[in-house]
Amino acid sequence: MQALRTPEQIRDVNTRYHDVAASGYDQKWGIDFGPTGRAQVLAKARRGLGPRIDAGFPRALEVGAGTGYFGLHLAQAGVITELTCTDISAGMLEALSTNARELGLEAVETVRTDAEALPFADQSFDLVFGHAILHHLPDLERAFAEFQRVLRPDGLILFAGEPSSVGDRLARVPKRAAQLAAPLWRRALGAAAAHPPHEDQGPEPSGHQLEGEVDIHTFEPGQLARLARGAGLVDVEVQGEELLANWFGWFNRGLESTAVSSDVPWCWRQYAFRGYLYLQRLDRAALEPHLPKALFYNLLLSGRRPADG
Ligand SMILES: C[S@@+](CC[C@H](N)C(=O)[O-])C[C@H]1O[C@@H](n2cnc3c(N)ncnc32)[C@H](O)[C@@H]1O
Repeated sequence: MQALRTPEQIRDVNTRYHDVAASGYDQKWGIDFGPTGRAQVLAKARRGLGPRIDAGFPRALEVGAGTGYFGLHLAQAGVITELTCTDISAGMLEALSTNARELGLEAVETVRTDAEALPFADQSFDLVFGHAILHHLPDLERAFAEFQRVLRPDGLILFAGEPSSVGDRLARVPKRAAQLAAPLWRRALGAAAAHPPHEDQGPEPSGHQLEGEVDIHTFEPGQLARLARGAGLVDVEVQGEELLANWFGWFNRGLESTAVSSDVPWCWRQYAFRGYLYLQRLDRAALEPHLPKALFYNLLLSGRRPADG
């Protein structure tokens, strides 16, 4: 496929890829709607929102909500009362609605829309947030102008899980190491090699084949801060998260992706999950307070619309 150049092509590829990915998305990324997943989301949200998380947010908007990992946890924890989840992919929003039903969450609305053209009135929300979404958006200035427009004065924004440029380059090492180690690892575990997902053989790549095309940005911390300030937000802060946990996670995910999923033993998955949580705690306690934020894989951006703005 030719390199993607126009914003329309990028949006179209994101829609098609995520529509196909939706049904297996939670399993692929180990999305957990139980207490462990909630603790993860709440820790990130508290880090970005500070003490205002305790008062809660009556109306919140999630952009690029996917299957609901971030927003449904916040709603379940009582941080959000009325949640509007938006996404460009109808498939993802269907999966989100199923998850919301299963969790017994009723005050969750879904709206299919591009994050850069939000169909909501000015000053409608107390919180605008997203997880792993900004790096998919072709026109970030336009998106931030929209986030600011729909925020109430004194409302907050929070964007977590955005890949940093340096962190992304460093993550190539464990990804490559996993490719090299995969045959030996599969033999040790007795796991069969996975076949690439079957696709209809049309002239245009579709579905899973588009995975490499949907991520269009990585960020320097200062670049995210400039985008938020440029839209008129204040109290803007960018923090870095996860270094060792991320390397460990990419290595294990790289191995697992080469095997038939049902052949990966439960004890391996436990080791990978618990190891990740342990290293995440180590990152938080020992590395994040001391190392430059640009080194970490995930960036977390927060800001506020001025009370008189
Ligand atoms: C990496 S997924 C993250 C989903 C979810 N926030 C999570 O953390 O699991 C990115 C999501 O952004 C959505 N997306 C991509 N481009 C978009 C756009 N232009 N406007 C709105 N959503 C978009 C995708 O459909 C997908 O659901």
